[in-house]
Amino acid sequence: MNKTAIILAAGKGTRMVSEKPKTLHRVAGRPMVLHVLDAVKQAGASRVVTVIGYGREMMEQALKDQCELAIQEPQLGTAHAVMCAKQLENESGYTLVCYGDAPCITVETYKMMYEQIADADMVVLTARVAEHNHFGRIIRNRNGHVDAIVEYKDCDENQKQIEEINTGIYVFKTELLFAHLKEVNDYNAQREYYLTDLVKIFNQHGLTVKAVSLSDNREMIGVNDRVDLAKANAFLNQKICEKWMRKGVTIIDPTSTYIGYDVTIGEDTTLYPNSFITGNTTIGKKNTIMMNCYLENATIGDGNTIDNARIIDSEVKNNCKIGPFVHLRNETIVEDCNRVGNFVEFKNTHFGYDSRCAHLTYLGDATIGSKVNFGCGVVTVNYDGKNKFHTQVEDGAFIGSNVNLIAPVHVGKKAVCAAGSTITDDVADGEMAIARDRQTNKPGYGYTYLNKEKQ
Ligand code: UD1
Ligand code: CA
Repeated sequence: MNKTAIILAAGKGTRMVSEKPKTLHRVAGRPMVLHVLDAVKQAGASRVVTVIGYGREMMEQALKDQCELAIQEPQLGTAHAVMCAKQLENESGYTLVCYGDAPCITVETYKMMYEQIADADMVVLTARVAEHNHFGRIIRNRNGHVDAIVEYKDCDENQKQIEEINTGIYVFKTELLFAHLKEVNDYNAQREYYLTDLVKIFNQHGLTVKAVSLSDNREMIGVNDRVDLAKANAFLNQKICEKWMRKGVTIIDPTSTYIGYDVTIGEDTTLYPNSFITGNTTIGKKNTIMMNCYLENATIGDGNTIDNARIIDSEVKNNCKIGPFVHLRNETIVEDCNRVGNFVEFKNTHFGYDSRCAHLTYLGDATIGSKVNFGCGVVTVNYDGKNKFHTQVEDGAFIGSNVNLIAPVHVGKKAVCAAGSTITDDVADGEMAIARDRQTNKPGYGYTYLNKEKQ
């Protein structure tokens, strides 16, 4: 049967206190509306229309090429929002309606909803949650049949006591949805067109309304403010961590390990506490990611140990020891079997196989061969205040401690730059460059300087 979906996301989300539309706030590293969109697509929706209104340009930008859009201007309520998705009016089959601010509802739940409509005309998903104050109440008759949904602001005292609430997720027979939407009015406390009124309307027409309940009530975290946002984030992060643990990743403390939705991690990798792994990051097998790592769009191969590192838009291949305190950025590539850190920054640098850069070094815009050794405190001087220049160091070279490589500069194979040198000219293969004053020792000057007698 043909399946379509409508995601309601036109509201401002006043309680977020934000310039950004509510559904663009991120959970697990991506806008919440994209979680919903992905889930409904995976549940089988062949066409998805997202209804947008507030912050239209930002929403269009975020959803570009990912689904169809409908504009709701002004926002007159949830039924009015569905009516705006006119492009689905002549579709056959089933239409799922859900909210862009409920990012924790799973693919399984949406799938279950599509299955439940087979013997009904409308299916409502209900839940029982601890803090249920503002939700619409499910009114059942003596036989347990759902008669109506009453919005909290329209509830009498008895209805307020009802614990079963409306999640705001429904599936309809498409044709019936659009046929009866027109009957919804705004005679209620909020003067809005409530989608929930369709329960009563369907019942009046003798159509079948069915309620099914959410199997895990924790999915029902509707994000209305930033407190909810943190709850949704914690819930989704826990799920993501559990997924990777089941796939063979050891996570010592999932409550302090943040893994984005698009991240992948290979088996027998161990994650120590306090890491934030986001964007399009891929981590291979048998890595040890020690404390306090921030990885964003990072590609990590196999068998590395990474400690207190910040790796952005960069790659570490295999069997490297990175850290502690390393910053790799701007398309840096670290080849196999390398040692980088303590306190090292690489920017736009290709660091060849089996090289060493173990202490207090900055390499920017550099190409480094294999088996190169950097002493402590080497700096590529790549910027003259106006332009950036390239440094190249060939295989097997030895760069002594505290060397400045003034770019553009080329250091040949097995060349040596003596410690403390400021290298302004190219060094050919096998040469040694010393670029510093020769030392002179002056007998007795030390005592004079310090105003002290020789004892
Ligand atoms: C709605 C339900 C309520 C349910 C609750 C669950 C109605 C009338 N009430 O109430 O029964 O318990 O969700 O969270 O449906 N939206 C639009 N256009 C509009 C109005 C809303 O797109 O004109 C979107 C919002 O952006 C939001 C969603 O619909 O994503 C829900 O709207 P909201 O105003 O938060 O509804 P609730 O009062 O929470
Ligand atoms: Ca809401």
